[in-house]
Amino acid sequence: MAERRTIVATRDLTKVYGTAVPVVALDHVNLDVHEGEMVAVMRPSGSGKSTLLNMIGALDRPTSGTVLIDGQDLAHVKDLDRFRARTVGFVFQMHNLIPTLTALENVEVPLRGQVRSAQQRRARAREMLALVGMADREDHLPSQLSGGQRQRVAIARALVNEPSLILADEPTGNLDSVSGAEILDLLIRLNREHNATILIVTHDRNIARATQRILEMRDGRIVGEHRVADPFTEDLRAFAQSALGQKLMAGDAEAIAHLARLHNNAAELAAQMAQVLRAVIS
Ligand SMILES: Nc1ncnc2c1ncn2[C@@H]1O[C@H](COP(=O)(O)OP(=O)(O)O)[C@@H](O)[C@H]1O
Ligand SMILES: [Mg+2]
Repeated sequence: MAERRTIVATRDLTKVYGTAVPVVALDHVNLDVHEGEMVAVMRPSGSGKSTLLNMIGALDRPTSGTVLIDGQDLAHVKDLDRFRARTVGFVFQMHNLIPTLTALENVEVPLRGQVRSAQQRRARAREMLALVGMADREDHLPSQLSGGQRQRVAIARALVNEPSLILADEPTGNLDSVSGAEILDLLIRLNREHNATILIVTHDRNIARATQRILEMRDGRIVGEHRVADPFTEDLRAFAQSALGQKLMAGDAEAIAHLARLHNNAAELAAQMAQVLRAVIS
């Protein structure tokens, strides 16, 4: 198998805030994220997750250690604004759309200086708005959109330059659950269908489970790593657990038979269930 490109590599990445009372926000973090991977960063607030994303996105400089993005050492990048615009898509809670520009115009902003013709910029921005399901809102101002819709426009803006890396810091945090699920679906689709590399900070186990790898941070360090072996098996396991609860633990045959009847392909499901049962019971 061909070696996958490493999009993010941090080496002994350390960030200390303040001087009088220093806060070690990142403590020698070593992290590799490969092309096409979707990785979740979880765990308590104050553990350094946002600081990690800020360092990786070149929004702030580390105290020591290195960040390599697609092989480039950020310490040696001369024009960081240009680098960010070309390489990184930020999806943060504070979406910061420009209030006086329409949805379409907001999405066009990062293309200035990248795409020469105004026509091409417009076409490209339209394509992105359609991808996030906002084609029919292109002339709306941010104030005329719901929170979830603004977040989708912000995602379209973040991705319009086809960045090799998407950094999402609790992107569904201030949205209602339906909008949150839509944003998550969109990120998953970008990962699976467009091979986008995504690093997502989240408190939500369900979001984390949809990724391929979950990192746990504590006190500025990565203290745990969990590979989500097979998203489908994970989904089925969660479904079985919520559908059957304690009965499953007791191996309730009747309940399992009922679960199988809910599915069209009972034979395939039965095989999967056997696998899940072994995993859950063991
Ligand atoms: N600009 C800053 N100045 C001083 N301390 C900061 C700053 N930003 C974050 N911190 C501190 O660094 C630690 C990590 O913060 P943060 O990365 O925001 O954590 P998380 O995103 O996991 O909640 C916390 O103790 C926080 O108080
Ligand atoms: Mg944070």
